Amino acid sequence: MIDQSNQALAVITKRHPDFRPKVAVVLGSGLGGLAAHLDAAPPIPYDALPGFPKPGVSGHQGQLILASAGDTPVALLEGRAHLYEDGRADAMAVAVRTMAGLGCEALVLTNAAGGLDPDMEPGSVMLLTDHLNFTGQSPLFGLPGDDRFVDMTQAYDLGLRHRLLAVAAEMDLPLHQGVYAWFAGPQFETVAEVRAAGILGANAVGMSTVPEVILARHAGMRVAGLSIITNKAAGMSDFTLSHEQTKRNAALATDQVQELLATFLKGYGG
Ligand code: HPA
Repeated sequence: MIDQSNQALAVITKRHPDFRPKVAVVLGSGLGGLAAHLDAAPPIPYDALPGFPKPGVSGHQGQLILASAGDTPVALLEGRAHLYEDGRADAMAVAVRTMAGLGCEALVLTNAAGGLDPDMEPGSVMLLTDHLNFTGQSPLFGLPGDDRFVDMTQAYDLGLRHRLLAVAAEMDLPLHQGVYAWFAGPQFETVAEVRAAGILGANAVGMSTVPEVILARHAGMRVAGLSIITNKAAGMSDFTLSHEQTKRNAALATDQVQELLATFLKGYGG
């Protein structure tokens, strides 16, 4: 895996020898348009990057884009792999370690999620303050060494959260804040699971992001996370849940989240 990450690094640095991104962003379903807000180089397909995922979920692309957001060099990961695709919690390990190897000091994660709070309407946006891992899985299973015992107390970096909140306030974008609960999927949660997650402190439920957070903390990166709330979680509305609905309602917030991310990245500084 370290080898694959080194090979991927070699492919990227051969194409862009002097480019050292500071921030990497994992773009969930429908957010691929962020590159259009930035000064972007031609995409590198994941196929060209050893160990990168082969995204199989519609709405996910599968390419790396290096770009400049104002003065901030960034790396955009369009598309991710999920635990439910082949049962591997470490499916994003090479991609995340490659970002760390390129020099990224921060990783911003985006996703679609079901909302539990009554005021989280489809199309609203939540800043992650913490997470619950309900899968029993870790992308660090099997790793040797004491650094696998990663401290998760400050998993979602306070400084990055403050900056995102400040940008959202300038945009007049209401930003919910809350705890994201990771379920394995691919089936949506039962009503009882959502009720249990709520009792245990969840504000949103989803099927991604948490393994990347763990990998990024293991690699020493600061982390921020944003959920587009695409639906009320199971049992909280009369709608039947579907991936179609997720994709359709993600589009309600993509423009705002892209603007939020573009402004945040341009003002990143370090
Ligand atoms: N549950 C899990 N994942 C999701 C949901 C949900 O309700 N909505 C979008 N992704």
